[in-house]
Order: sequence, then structure tokens, then C-alpha cells
Amino acid sequence: MAPSRATARQQPVATDVEEVERQKSAAATVAAGEVRDGMRLGLGTGSTVVHLLRALGGRHLTDVRCVATSPATELAARAMGLTVCELDELGELDLAIDGADQVDPAGWLVKGGGAALTREKIVAAAARRFVVIVSAEKTVRELEPPVPLEVLRFGVMRTLATIGDARVRAAQESSPDGNAIADYLGPVGDPRELSARLSGTPGVVEHGLFAPELVSEIVIARQDGVEHRAGGKPAV
Ligand code: 5RP
Repeated sequence: MAPSRATARQQPVATDVEEVERQKSAAATVAAGEVRDGMRLGLGTGSTVVHLLRALGGRHLTDVRCVATSPATELAARAMGLTVCELDELGELDLAIDGADQVDPAGWLVKGGGAALTREKIVAAAARRFVVIVSAEKTVRELEPPVPLEVLRFGVMRTLATIGDARVRAAQESSPDGNAIADYLGPVGDPRELSARLSGTPGVVEHGLFAPELVSEIVIARQDGVEHRAGGKPAV
């Protein structure tokens, strides 16, 4: 049986909601400090990214062109006065910044709690630098289920039966591109093996396992400061 989230978390664990928000804001502020005028910037999705947008709003940058990974991020970015473009208008991005649901010691991530995993992976791959911003309770000793999946609606139940140990989320929960969102609930084990199995299943558009080589840096905010952990993406 997979360990419970509480037993797999690394220390220190922030249980207080306000402290977690403070940590998300601290990590987001550090990452916002890396954004410069003239950059093409990828924006992830989720509550940590909302902190990022606020921090960016406070930077008074005048020439940053952004790509949003979800309608919610696009709306919030525009409200902050940021310029939002299509990824294909911008091509390669200088920097992308996003949150995560889990971070393991080898730099593997689980993402997709906000259902935007496919766009998030495309944007991470399009960026010369991909910086992940998390509060300390996102760090785990081993990745655990659920692993979010974006699945084509055609034959969704058949696709999930092929995977096994997977459940579709509520019918109204869609990816930004209209696909179904499901969760793989079985053991993760070796994330590279599971990643290959999920990617090789017809009907799976994308899964929420992000390999270390997609990630340049992980900014982890803790109660007592901010840790910068190098990812596996080669610097360019
Ligand atoms: C959205 C994501 C988010 O980055 C992840 O769910 C973390 O969210 P939050 O910043 O709200 O804790 O992958 O698809």
C-alpha cells in the first residue's frame, strides 16, 4: 500500500494554512525576481502562481510577454496588467515558472492538480529555464498517487481500464483543451517506468509526472528560509 501523504512528507511540515500561503508567496517572490523586461515568460497554474502574478504585478515590468497555461491564469495575468500571447507567437520562452503538487528528492514532480498538466508540460519544455516554486509540504520522500492524467474523452473509460487503478474526475472537470481529467491511483514505484507506461497508453494525452530533466531549479520555501535545489535541465 502506498504510504500516506503525512508519512511520506519531508520535514518541516507546515500544517498551518497561513504558513503554507506565506511559503508559497515567498517562493513566488524569489522567482518573480528573476523576471526581466524583454523576457518571454511561461506562467503555470494554481494558487502558488497566483502569488507569482501578484509579485510580478509589484515589479512594474513594462515589456514581458507571457504565455498562460490555463484560462484562470490568463485572466489573472491580464488583471495584473501583463501581456498574454499565444505560445506559437513567442516560440521559445526565456523562463517558465510553475507550482507542483509533489517534489521528490531526485527532482521528479507530480503536477496537474489544477488540470492544466499538458499545457504546463508543453510550456516547461518550451522554456530555456523552468523554475518550480513550492511550499515545504510539497516535498515528499517518494511520489505518491494520485498522478493526474489528461485523457481524450473518446473511450475514456476504456483507456482508464487499460491503465488500471485510475478514476475519472467529475464530468465537469476538463482540461483547458476540453479533455477529461482523471487520476492514476496505483503505486508510482519507478516514476520513469510509470511515465513510459502512461505515455504509451492510447487515449492518454499527457500525465502529471514531470521528469527532472524538464526542471532547471526548484525553489522550496520553508519556515526558516528558502532552499534552491538544482534540477536536471542543462543550463543554456
Ligand atoms: C496545476 C498544477 C499546480 O502547479 C499544482 O496543482 C500546485 O497547485 P498549487 O500552487 O495551488 O498548490 O500542476 O495543474
